[in-house]
Amino acid sequence: VFDLSTYLAEKRALINTALERILDQNPRRIASAMGYSLMAGGKRLRPILCMASAEAVGGGNPDAVLPAACALEIIHTYSLIHDDLPAMDDDALRRGRPTCHMQFDEATAILAGDGLLTLAFEILSAPGPDKEKNPLLWLKVIHEIAGAAGYRGMIEGQMQDMAAEGVLLPPEDLEKLHALKTGALIRASVRAGALVGGGSPDQIRGLEDYARGIGLAFQVTDDILNVEGDPALMGKAAGTDQTRKKNAYPALMGLEQSKELARNLIDQAILALDGFDEEAEPLRAIARYILHRKR
Ligand code: IPE
Ligand code: IPE
Ligand code: MG
Ligand code: MG
Repeated sequence: VFDLSTYLAEKRALINTALERILDQNPRRIASAMGYSLMAGGKRLRPILCMASAEAVGGGNPDAVLPAACALEIIHTYSLIHDDLPAMDDDALRRGRPTCHMQFDEATAILAGDGLLTLAFEILSAPGPDKEKNPLLWLKVIHEIAGAAGYRGMIEGQMQDMAAEGVLLPPEDLEKLHALKTGALIRASVRAGALVGGGSPDQIRGLEDYARGIGLAFQVTDDILNVEGDPALMGKAAGTDQTRKKNAYPALMGLEQSKELARNLIDQAILALDGFDEEAEPLRAIARYILHRKR
């Protein structure tokens, strides 16, 4: 039988080793700040999704997919550093540690984010055996990730999130906001893995439906944890959405309905994998994990 915790631990170890190799171990302040946030022990959900999606289409060679997986985690970490800045969510705790700007200073945190974002594209475009074998495919992967992270994707979502503080959005607008803020990078993680793994257009369509469901469900559970989660487990503060009058699902429809929505989204996501055999079992288990996670 498939054991998710073993699977996650194995993947995290591969990803963490690869990330440690990527980032210079030099004592300069900027490298220290980047490493401080990157190696703080995140769940590594996006790189794991990328690797699991490659496996689902039958192409699970970790060496091929790791550059994409690492780039996604590096972009995600940059987005967290900037998300926590005083001008944005103004948070003091992240991944169980003081946020980057608290530990270093604001200017260093801004630059650490910039450094991580550009590093991701340095890694994606660095020479390597799989890239030299499939240069056009990798160009597509880079294009995909750039678009998802950019001003039509995650950045637009962050913009909408900031603009909507104190304004109660209708459900369809909140869904769009979440799909951009969190969904875009999750969808890109799944697509990048499927592309590098050599997935067919049909397989990629199924995985996209899966990604849409888990992407929204992931942000809905983030909103739920912000209300009733344990900060010690989450490694970040709770109750902040309400304080900052953020648009979040529990404020919009209550906790019970938010949980119901998350459950439905996860059920749909798992259904979207119907055409896949046991090679997609990790993706199914990750979907269930998203629903029940405590951090
Ligand atoms: C937190 O992401 C921010 C959101 C987009 C909801 P994660 O919950 O994946 O954070 P880490 O990577 O585990 O710290
Ligand atoms: C973070 O969203 C989204 C990005 C960093 C793109 P939130 O602000 O809702 O997440 P947390 O609660 O700070 O992790
Ligand atoms: Mg935010
Ligand atoms: Mg935040």
